[in-house]
Amino acid sequence: MTFRLYVTIGLAVALIGALWALADGSAGAGPVVQGTAEPKGVAVAMPQAATSLPSVQLHATAASNPCAQAPVQQALASGGDDAVVAAFGGGAAFRAAVAAGSAPCIDLSDPNRDWVVVNKARPLNPLAFAPTSFGDPALSVDGAGSLRSDAAHALDQLSAAADAAGVGTIALASGYRSYDTQVQTYSGQIATYGQAQGDALSARPGHSEHQTGLAADVVSCAGGCGSIDSFGGTAAGAWVAENGWQYGFIVRYVAGQTPVTGYDPEPWHLRYVGVPLATAYHDGGFVTLEQFFGLAAAPAYLG
Ligand code: DAL
Ligand code: ZN
Repeated sequence: MTFRLYVTIGLAVALIGALWALADGSAGAGPVVQGTAEPKGVAVAMPQAATSLPSVQLHATAASNPCAQAPVQQALASGGDDAVVAAFGGGAAFRAAVAAGSAPCIDLSDPNRDWVVVNKARPLNPLAFAPTSFGDPALSVDGAGSLRSDAAHALDQLSAAADAAGVGTIALASGYRSYDTQVQTYSGQIATYGQAQGDALSARPGHSEHQTGLAADVVSCAGGCGSIDSFGGTAAGAWVAENGWQYGFIVRYVAGQTPVTGYDPEPWHLRYVGVPLATAYHDGGFVTLEQFFGLAAAPAYLG
């Protein structure tokens, strides 16, 4: 009797053990349940401790070298200047890359580009450069000449917007000036004002933005056109200083920046750089192109 009782208890314990093993998955080929508990009775390979770091190959990335990006290369090859700026990610990104020296494909000395910087330390290259596309703005005074096509079209838009804003139209008083014309302009100023003052008023031949076709000396034409000297004191002059960027223009020589530009203030001298760059210039609070692109001040000629 005692023996049978032991056998019965033994069988019952064995049965309970088998059922328990099935229930926790440690026996047979039951479903594998992912969890945090380690399976019982199974050898687990422990991860080996890292004894060294994998070597890292450093390459210039597209972000650090925008010129490596296909859209930038395509825009440079076949797009307009605004398209190049857009491929960089906009005017602010373009400016930042150029100023940081990480955009070797952008040549600030290329006189065919809207971003060219011409100053007393950065002559035109070639010195007698002449643009190939010209357009005549709708409004200009006698002898004003032309502008590059994009700049002429933009000046028309600027003038129409100024008129719509109630400050009158804006006319071109002096646009593109060839190297030879600048010889006349410059020598005339030197003859009238002397060397030092003449150099603060007029660029030497080969050093004027007017030779790029992107500079426009403008006058206000509210009830008859005024002079360039009076432009800064007109409502149109104030309006242009505030709003010119929306049409791609910046006032190139502003008060307080003669140590950087080398020129007396010229509220009438507008420089076309295109809407994306003019917008970045305005939004960033820049006051000279030199500052905008991180270039050295150019108060005087190098030679
Ligand atoms: N008056 C400006 C500086 C020029 O001659 O280009
Ligand atoms: Zn000018």
